Amino acid sequence: MINDLKQKIYIAGHRGMVGSAIVRELQRKGYTNLVYRTHQELDLTNQAAVAHFFKTEKPDQVYLAAAKVGGIHANNTYPAEFIYDNLMVQNNVIHHAFLSGVRKLLFLGSSCIYPKLASQPMSEDALLTGKLEPTNEPYAIAKIAGIKMCESYNRQYGKSHGVDYRSVMPTNLYGPGDNYHPENSHVIPALIRRFHEAKVANAPEVLIWGTGTPKREFLYVDDMARASVFVMQLDRAAYDAQTQPMQSHINVGFGDDISIAQLADAIAKATGYQGQIAFDPTKPDGSPRKLMNSKRLNSLGWSPKILLQQGLAATYQEFVKLDLQN
Ligand SMILES: NC(=O)c1ccc[n+]([C@@H]2O[C@H](COP(=O)([O-])OP(=O)(O)OC[C@H]3O[C@@H](n4cnc5c(N)ncnc54)[C@H](OP(=O)(O)O)[C@@H]3O)[C@@H](O)[C@H]2O)c1
Repeated sequence: MINDLKQKIYIAGHRGMVGSAIVRELQRKGYTNLVYRTHQELDLTNQAAVAHFFKTEKPDQVYLAAAKVGGIHANNTYPAEFIYDNLMVQNNVIHHAFLSGVRKLLFLGSSCIYPKLASQPMSEDALLTGKLEPTNEPYAIAKIAGIKMCESYNRQYGKSHGVDYRSVMPTNLYGPGDNYHPENSHVIPALIRRFHEAKVANAPEVLIWGTGTPKREFLYVDDMARASVFVMQLDRAAYDAQTQPMQSHINVGFGDDISIAQLADAIAKATGYQGQIAFDPTKPDGSPRKLMNSKRLNSLGWSPKILLQQGLAATYQEFVKLDLQN
């Protein structure tokens, strides 16, 4: 039974932003038999070690939230590591989960699987219809391979072994556990750090790259964790009705986007920064819009709960705690 609270559930990547939120969500729902390994204890790129782990632990379900992730700079600097590590981690986990008898697995992908010029909002059927954004192509190719691994195992072993491996594609996420590295963080943690530092230094202005007009979508990580458990627990008929054997992934988005200028205002408010916000239009803007079409998930009965201002306030509280510890 998928909803048996004693099922042994392995969360790969449980120390990461998403993995730790999935652990919180499963604990909140009363699951008592969660298993994890740190990266140091189990390197998921090591096939023999992963095989041994699955043989000995024999989990019932797997959430695959371990991955090598990073921003444009990291993807551009380490493309070999991004494709190798991600393919190895997901191939090892999915294959050895299967060999040890795991029937339920959830693979986490990303919106970068969609073509650079996909029409907006991007729906699931845009996959493999055009060229990817070159900066993160190796990462995106690995994520697409992960979706296809799950689908291929379902197609070959679904009937014979009861295999039911699903994939979710989140939009940009933010929240506790995010990475605030000055050069290698996503837009929300980067701006939280900059506005916080500007507040502390009493700086009169924060200058933001680009015109401020591009629009982006953001989802609080606890909503993502709720969506992950929701999709994992959907009954087979409901999931199958919204997906196809060779297009089985489901988008997870907030459903609406905001401009970078609006985001900057919201972050200034959350951090208490009262100076000016300026934009540098000589710097690149990136795509004008990136929004997921999450109608498939919405029609299955899921919607987000955390509004941006509420999520930013909680994220900033955690940032201040971390900042005080350093
Ligand atoms: N954050 C976002 O905005 C976002 C958006 C869309 C999709 N996603 C997806 O969500 C998933 C989780 O992302 P996240 O933001 O939670 O990333 P994260 O915070 O960096 O967490 C990833 C976790 O995976 C672990 N890991 C990486 N390589 C490993 C290996 N070889 N062996 C064992 N553990 C390994 C990391 O451990 P170490 O830190 O010790 O290496 C870390 O704990 C990824 O698949 C990502 O593509 C994230």
